[in-house]
Amino acid sequence: SVLIVDFGSQVTQLIARRVREAGVYSEIVPFTTAAEAFARMQPKGVILSGSPASVLDEGSPRVPPVVFESGVPVLGICYGQQVMMQQLGGQVVLGESGEFGQAFIEIQDDCVLFDGLWAPQERHQVWMSHGDKVIELAPGFRPVAVSPGSPFAVVADDARRYYATQFHPEVVHTPDGAKFLANFVRHVCGLSGEWTMAEFRAAKIADIRKQVGVGKNGGRVICGLSGGVDSAVAAVLIHEAIGEQLTCVFVDHGLMRSGEADQVVSLFRNSYNIPLVHVNAEATFLAGLAGVTDPEKKRKFIGAAFIDLFEAEAKKVGGADFLAQGTLYPDVIESVSFTGGPSVTIKSHHNVGGLPERMNMQLVEPLRELFKDEVRALGRELGLPEAFVGRHPFPGPGLAIRIPGEVTKERCDILRKADAIYLEEIRNAGLYDTIWQAFAVLLPVRSVGVMGDGRTYDNVLALRAVTSTDGMTAQAFEFPGGFLARVSTRIVNEVRGVNRVTYDYTSKPPGTIEWE
Ligand code: XMP
Repeated sequence: SVLIVDFGSQVTQLIARRVREAGVYSEIVPFTTAAEAFARMQPKGVILSGSPASVLDEGSPRVPPVVFESGVPVLGICYGQQVMMQQLGGQVVLGESGEFGQAFIEIQDDCVLFDGLWAPQERHQVWMSHGDKVIELAPGFRPVAVSPGSPFAVVADDARRYYATQFHPEVVHTPDGAKFLANFVRHVCGLSGEWTMAEFRAAKIADIRKQVGVGKNGGRVICGLSGGVDSAVAAVLIHEAIGEQLTCVFVDHGLMRSGEADQVVSLFRNSYNIPLVHVNAEATFLAGLAGVTDPEKKRKFIGAAFIDLFEAEAKKVGGADFLAQGTLYPDVIESVSFTGGPSVTIKSHHNVGGLPERMNMQLVEPLRELFKDEVRALGRELGLPEAFVGRHPFPGPGLAIRIPGEVTKERCDILRKADAIYLEEIRNAGLYDTIWQAFAVLLPVRSVGVMGDGRTYDNVLALRAVTSTDGMTAQAFEFPGGFLARVSTRIVNEVRGVNRVTYDYTSKPPGTIEWE
């Protein structure tokens, strides 16, 4: 395994992801507990992350000495390089000007990290983000690549198997970064690269059992299902770990897409035999949404009602010690701001935030390190059907935030019907998997049309489809010619209440994916 020592960089999880992609197991641990983790894991290699801190600050984080005493290979990235140099006898100074963003390094010498990748005299694109810089290498190191802002873009001490980079190989803006990291774990640490999702599953099951306890003294876990992929994968995994100690509660707000609620219920009860409490609360939600048009008020009401209903159900089943959530890594980073200061709330995302404190429960979040596509891979590994695992993301507040203006049963039904036609056409065209998310929005606008010999005055629908890798940025999807015309004709012909269809071309930013 590889131990990743986290010094607080925004992109530490990407290091773990790249190591996973190279087929090697890794764990991220905060620098504060890295010594214990090292003793427990006996890793074959250590990677030191970047950090918002400066090694020149008093009390800034350090690498536990055991790492350097043990003789295992070490790769330092950015702050990781600086802290390595400082602890091993080099010198770091405050940079006069930093390097941020795209940069080019020039390869100066051969290095095992460049195997099959880079050769001397070549220039390669990397992504830099640093203010401080190393001015004197620690004994034993030689520079193997330089950049305009840093004579030590990559440095190597082959005898001790210590390597360090000023740039960030883990981000996609360093195009060869994944292979660079794979070279470290395979060629330097000698790890074989056969670790798979099957092993992630086994490791997480062991973690869950350890956290919750099993058998007589085991804790009780309650899991709120949203109907989406993340919470379902989390629930199935946890059920595999602790069986009947888990209770799943599906608070069905009636704002799901066509047929989805039934699909979840049948998947859990019939395919997996996981006991599921299905709370059909459509009437409660619609009543609460009556007259509400402000997007944030809708979100707040839905979030609060969800929590109330969930809590009431949890009491009925006799309470629980743990709350399980399908939190993913992007949820974790989105909630932390880059500067450490408070971040602006763009939208109040719907989750069960606040519940753990209120109900005095600890969290079980087995997917915290994963990205969406990895959760899907884990879902497949757990045997969830492809049609379920590959489903587009769907927001917690459901159709309510795709109906600007007042939400009524009638408007939900119109939207569900139009949305189903749109998605059916996308599936038939073989485009479903290339699109991150596609959906219809029912606008609070009516337009005049003519159908047969009569005048119509009906609703306008907007279609949206975006490509994205993480939902944080997105671009409008370009459909092949004729596709949107076909969908538009079908919707206007088949859905009563819609007489005009438009397409939303806005990217994110400046738009968001959802309309509210
Ligand atoms: P926005 O609209 O903020 O959406 O660009 C980014 C991604 O998040 C989804 N989304 C939500 N997911 N609860 C969720 O679980 C929410 O309240 C919520 N709001 C938006 C959205 O569908 C997109 O995938």
